[in-house]
Amino acid sequence: MSHHYIQFSDVHYRYPGGVEALGGVTFRVTHGEKVALLGQNGAGKSTLLLHTDGLLLPTSGEVNVGDVPVRKSTLKLIRQTVGLVFQNPDDQLFMPTVADDVAFGPLNMGLPPGEVRRRVETSLAAVGASELADRPSFQLSGGQKRAVAIATVIAMEPDILVMDEPSANLDTGARRRLLDILHGFSHTMLVATHDLDLALELCPRAIVLDRGRVVADGSTAALLANRQLMQSTGMDIPASLLAYLRSLAPCIEG
Ligand SMILES: Nc1ncnc2c1ncn2[C@@H]1O[C@H](COP(=O)(O)OP(=O)(O)OP(=O)(O)O)[C@@H](O)[C@H]1O
Ligand SMILES: [Mg+2]
Repeated sequence: MSHHYIQFSDVHYRYPGGVEALGGVTFRVTHGEKVALLGQNGAGKSTLLLHTDGLLLPTSGEVNVGDVPVRKSTLKLIRQTVGLVFQNPDDQLFMPTVADDVAFGPLNMGLPPGEVRRRVETSLAAVGASELADRPSFQLSGGQKRAVAIATVIAMEPDILVMDEPSANLDTGARRRLLDILHGFSHTMLVATHDLDLALELCPRAIVLDRGRVVADGSTAALLANRQLMQSTGMDIPASLLAYLRSLAPCIEG
């Protein structure tokens, strides 16, 4: 299973408008790891994630998924391996009903109708959205759209799950259900998030981006407890971690 890893090697990306969004990014996410991608607005998280399945190709440097370099010629193979859940679910949902949206990927893969039906049912059940199958996707609430967007990706049974802000706009219950679902996945995972408690709970490792560069890569708890790093990259130590640290050493300042 050594092919289920993502390697970024000195990846630079400049948008056509001129902004250099990635300024030489190098890291590897290995098989079975769950890694959080952190950083303030505009740090380059979404740009980086769009490189994992070739929606963007580096201006220079290289992205590899296992032994396969991400190039125009390998996109079909890459997208069977990497499933990307976009930051905005409206970018992922465009068919008349939820079931059609979830079936779209498996149908495109040329799977037989019975297998497509099975995948639609199991993916919607996995995200707790079976009862939405016949609803028009565009009429769903933000949280329901988020769940269905995840189902459209897991229906393709990717080896690597890449998610951009999966808990954005979710209420407490929906966020808890999402976390429980994600805990249940054995996938290799790369998750961009501003939800530092989610990162702490789900991902043992975190990568911090700042202005398109990796400024930290290591244990999520250790990085989030690093006040200097948090301040310099525009983040706050999560309240839950601060409470825990205070319980160990009551003199820690707010
Ligand atoms: N389509 C685009 N054209 C030009 N510049 C862009 C485009 N998309 C993003 N950028 C710029 O690239 C940089 C990185 O943006 P990106 O969306 O990757 O950040 P992010 O870390 O995902 O931010 P957020 O937390 O707000 O989602 C920003 O300076 C942004 O303005
Ligand atoms: Mg983003």
